[in-house]
Amino acid sequence: MTPTPIILDCDPGHDDAIAILLALASPEVELVGVTTVSGNQTLDKTTANALRVLELAGRGDIPVYSGADAPFMRQRDVAAHVHGESGLDGPDLPPASSAAQKRHAVEYLAEQFRAAPKATLVATGPLTNVGLAFATHPDARPDRIVLMGGSIGEGNRTPAAEFNIWADPEAAQRVFAEGLDTTMVGLDVTHRALITDAHTERMRTAGKVGKVVAELMDFYARFHKSHYPDLDGSPMHDPVCVAHLIDPTLLDVRDAFIEVDCTTGPSWGRTNVDWRNREHFGAPNAKVALDIDGERFAELVVERISSLK
Ligand code: RIB
Ligand code: CA
Repeated sequence: MTPTPIILDCDPGHDDAIAILLALASPEVELVGVTTVSGNQTLDKTTANALRVLELAGRGDIPVYSGADAPFMRQRDVAAHVHGESGLDGPDLPPASSAAQKRHAVEYLAEQFRAAPKATLVATGPLTNVGLAFATHPDARPDRIVLMGGSIGEGNRTPAAEFNIWADPEAAQRVFAEGLDTTMVGLDVTHRALITDAHTERMRTAGKVGKVVAELMDFYARFHKSHYPDLDGSPMHDPVCVAHLIDPTLLDVRDAFIEVDCTTGPSWGRTNVDWRNREHFGAPNAKVALDIDGERFAELVVERISSLK
């Protein structure tokens, strides 16, 4: 089986970090490059975190390209209340010995979008880098995008909007409007992609990487236990995108028309998702994940993370 090459555009962030490690632990995909964006924390911190996580797994050879340090138009707002001041609070993870590449993430993405074969773009942060790549390189597009963002129902950053889309709605709208093969993995499924304390304990004793992931989960879980007591665990938003490429049977995905609220009103950043083919809406421009086998997902994460030593 030939692995699917992927590029991960991310804002590590605890769940981004676990998505990186899940990709490295899975022969079904090959992580060829990482681009970073401001989101969960500032760009300098998300970039340093991507480097640290790759080095933890012994993959400091995978290039990291630093991207946009703020959204297109909106004020930058980080999520230190979820991910801490470093963006990866919890484990004592030393700084990486390697540095980010000199080229800007947007230039790297454009180059990769012209390459043959093209890597699948997995985007797990605000879509600023991707939107900028589309705006500055009209001839360069990926064949496929799987992105964590949005929701059919309730948001998380606001009642209406999910954080990645809320942070840069203009960039997100630009991505959806392209009408590429784009799959939106929203809160509707990621809030059912839960890692419990029992899953965490199984990873803690599995090896060096499992121990670090358990310590990431210890920190990440404290926010969710206090703010989402209705969830039986902590949502693994970003790893769901990677898991979808590892095992497409985990998600139920449907064609949809997706439009982002780019106003400055209380619903800014909301993804309006029509998967019921209502009249007077546009033709489908994306796919949306409607359902997930949460138990099989969690087992995949525990098994693969535990295989990293
Ligand atoms: O809303 C959840 C998303 O926002 C995840 O990607 C998390 O890492 C943050 O980026
Ligand atoms: Ca993220």
